[in-house]
Amino acid sequence: MSSIEIMVSDCTESDIIAEDVVNPNGLTVLVRGAVITDYIKKRLTEMGIEKVTVYNSMDNYDNFVNNTSYQDCKQQYKETVLLIKNIIDGLLRGEQLQYNGIVNAANKILGLKNDKRNVINYLNKIRSADEYTYTHCVDVAFYSMLIGAWLNLPDEEINEVIQAGLLHDIGKVKIPNKILNKKGKLTTEEFNIIKKHTILGHEILSKMDDISDGVKNAVIFHHERMDGTGYPFGMSATFIDLYSKIVAIADVFDAMTSDRVYRKRKTPFDVFEMFKTVGVRIFDSTILNTFIKKISPYYIGANVMLNNGERGRIVYIPPRDVLSPIIEIQSDYLDLSIQNNVEILSIGG
Ligand SMILES: [Fe+2]
Repeated sequence: MSSIEIMVSDCTESDIIAEDVVNPNGLTVLVRGAVITDYIKKRLTEMGIEKVTVYNSMDNYDNFVNNTSYQDCKQQYKETVLLIKNIIDGLLRGEQLQYNGIVNAANKILGLKNDKRNVINYLNKIRSADEYTYTHCVDVAFYSMLIGAWLNLPDEEINEVIQAGLLHDIGKVKIPNKILNKKGKLTTEEFNIIKKHTILGHEILSKMDDISDGVKNAVIFHHERMDGTGYPFGMSATFIDLYSKIVAIADVFDAMTSDRVYRKRKTPFDVFEMFKTVGVRIFDSTILNTFIKKISPYYIGANVMLNNGERGRIVYIPPRDVLSPIIEIQSDYLDLSIQNNVEILSIGG
């Protein structure tokens, strides 16, 4: 697909951004694949951005999203879910963990590093309470890959952080299903049993010399929190390592934005709000801010349902105030930073 740099004033609606657009403060305002709208043209002009790079010879947006790399992403996701299923079934039968399968899957997921839009689009689509045990591990691996890439880690480290995502909850094979899948509130005793999945997971991996210490640490420490309120040890920030901090954020973001048998999913904006309040105390703030800043522009263009019953489309997300997107409803624009009583109920669809 070829691209061309043009004046913002010459952009037409439905032009597709080919290179990320950064504002004069260095914040990303639009990511590759965003579609130009009148509102975006207005905002870019207000920011003093004169030129953007857009794809040329593009029939329509469907050509961009239904391309082969989207299919590759979907294929890779499905293959990895199957792999995790086989690994878990194997462990339940008392077999050894097939670590080479994890390494292969991590390599292939790493191969999607430059295709973040398709990865994020796909992750947004496959929200289902079925097979959560398997899909959650794969989701966390994909989100961990994105975070590793946004932190500019070397590929070997991103590969390991993907492995950590795939394996983070592996200790759950040793937790009785009736506790794991319980629909009601867990008793303190049941929650204490669930907490053991960290130590049990580490036990499964501990004798496998091929697996790096970083990956093993993330399995045992991914529920540790920066203020010492996590488990199993209640460690403080200085003792929690990088992979554990990345997987912790990927884990919570995915769990909150997924449908569960006992509750509906939350929107990414609800999670950003939690991240910006409670999150700053319990997660690494640099990684958290990078995640919010980098992932939020990908929600521009998403369809939303509001709490007043109206449907609209996100046309812009201010990088300094990601909790207040601008929503287009028919030909009106709603600024959520002004309309305090309006909230996004659901996103996508
Ligand atoms: Fe966990």
